[in-house]
Amino acid sequence: MIVNAYATQSAAEDLAPFTIDRRVPRADDVTIKIQYCGVCHSDLHTARNDWGNSQYPVVPGHEIIGVVESVGAEVTRFAVGDQVGVGCMVDSCRDCAACKQDLENYCENGSTLTYNGKDRQDGTPTYGGYSEKIVVSDRFVLKIPERIDLKAAAPLLCAGITTWSPLRHWKIGKGSNVAVIGLGGLGHMALKLAKALEANVTLFTHSPEKEADARRLGADKIIISKDAAQMKAAKGQFDLIIDTVPCDHDINPYLSTLSLNGTLVLVGFLGKFESLLNTVPLIVGRKSVAGSVIGGIAETQEMLDFCGEHGIVSDIEMINIQDINKAYERMLKSDVKYRFVIDMASLNSGQ
Ligand SMILES: NC(=O)c1ccc[n+]([C@@H]2O[C@H](COP(=O)([O-])OP(=O)(O)OC[C@H]3O[C@@H](n4cnc5c(N)ncnc54)[C@H](OP(=O)(O)O)[C@@H]3O)[C@@H](O)[C@H]2O)c1
Ligand SMILES: [Zn+2]
Ligand SMILES: [Zn+2]
Repeated sequence: MIVNAYATQSAAEDLAPFTIDRRVPRADDVTIKIQYCGVCHSDLHTARNDWGNSQYPVVPGHEIIGVVESVGAEVTRFAVGDQVGVGCMVDSCRDCAACKQDLENYCENGSTLTYNGKDRQDGTPTYGGYSEKIVVSDRFVLKIPERIDLKAAAPLLCAGITTWSPLRHWKIGKGSNVAVIGLGGLGHMALKLAKALEANVTLFTHSPEKEADARRLGADKIIISKDAAQMKAAKGQFDLIIDTVPCDHDINPYLSTLSLNGTLVLVGFLGKFESLLNTVPLIVGRKSVAGSVIGGIAETQEMLDFCGEHGIVSDIEMINIQDINKAYERMLKSDVKYRFVIDMASLNSGQ
C-alpha cells in the first residue's frame, strides 16, 4: 500500500514529501488513517541523527491519532471507524520478563519503535506518523476516550505517557512534592498530570517568560534555574523531580533540592553528562538518580483513560506538514506552546 509521507534523507536535510509502502495487513493488524500527529523532540533528534543510530530515510512521528480503516481477521478489540492512537512502539518480543509484566517499553529484546525500527517479521524499516496511514498489530493500538479533543490528545501518546509513568512508578499522589525541569512538550504534560494527581507542583525553567503559562498549566511554584538564590532556597523539597531537558546540563544543583529518599528521574537527555555527578547529596540524603522510557501499553491506556476522565489534553499549536522544518527550528529555541500537532489532512492538500 503506497502512502504519502514526509521524510528526511540525511541528518543535514530538511523533511520533504516522500512515499512509503505500508505492509499488506496481517490477521492481527489494524490499518489506521492518520488524522493528527504530535511533534516530539525525539522526532528532531532522530531526523538529525543526534543519537547516531538513524537509518534513512526517516519518517518521524509517534504521537498518532487516527481512525480505523480496516481490521485483520483476528482483531476483536477494534472495528472500522474507531478512534485510536499509536505511540512510540509498534511491537516487542511479547515473551521476555519485561513484556510479561506489561513493560514492553523495557523489552529485553528491544521493543520495535514506531519509526527508525525494524519490523520483527519481515525486517522492513518502520516509518512513523508523518504519513497518511499506518498498519499496526492490534496489541499496540490504543483506544482514545470519547469526547476528548482528538488533536490535543495526540501528544498524550508520547509526552503524556513518558511523564505519567514516573509519576505512577514513584507513587505520586495527594500531597507529594513534585518538580519538573523544562516547560516543553513533556514538561507541560508533567505539570498537568502531577496536578491532577493532587501533588504540589513546581517548575524549574530557564525561561522566566514562561511563568504565567506554568501557573495556568498547574505549577504552584516556579524556580528560575539560572538564579542561584532561588535554587538554594529550594533545598530538600522534592520527592520526585522529572528532568525533561533535551540536551547536556548539570544535574548537581537539582540534587540538593530533593528531599530525603527523593529521586531525580531523567527522561530528556540521552547520553553522557559532561559534569561529574556529586555523590555527596545522594549518600547523605539517600537520594536517587534514575531514568525512565515512555511506558507500557497497559499503562498508556490507563493514562489515556485518566486524561479522558479528568479532561486533560495537551496545549497545542496546529501546523500543516509543510511547516514541519520551521517547527523544528522553533523547538530548538524552546519556543513551543506547548506541542506542535500536524493536521495530516495537509499532506494531501497540496499546500
Ligand atoms: N524518556 C522518554 O521516553 C522520552 C520520551 C519522549 C521524549 N524524550 C526526550 O525528552 C526530551 C524533551 O522532549 P520534549 O519533546 O519535551 O522537548 P521540548 O518540547 O523541546 O522541551 C524541552 C524543554 O527543555 C528546556 N530546555 C531546552 N533547552 C535547554 C537548555 N539548554 N537548558 C535547560 N533547559 C533547556 C526548555 O524548557 P524551559 O524553557 O522551561 O527551560 C524546553 O522547552 C527530548 O530529548 C526527547 O528526546 C524522552
Ligand atoms: Zn516522543
Ligand atoms: Zn520482550
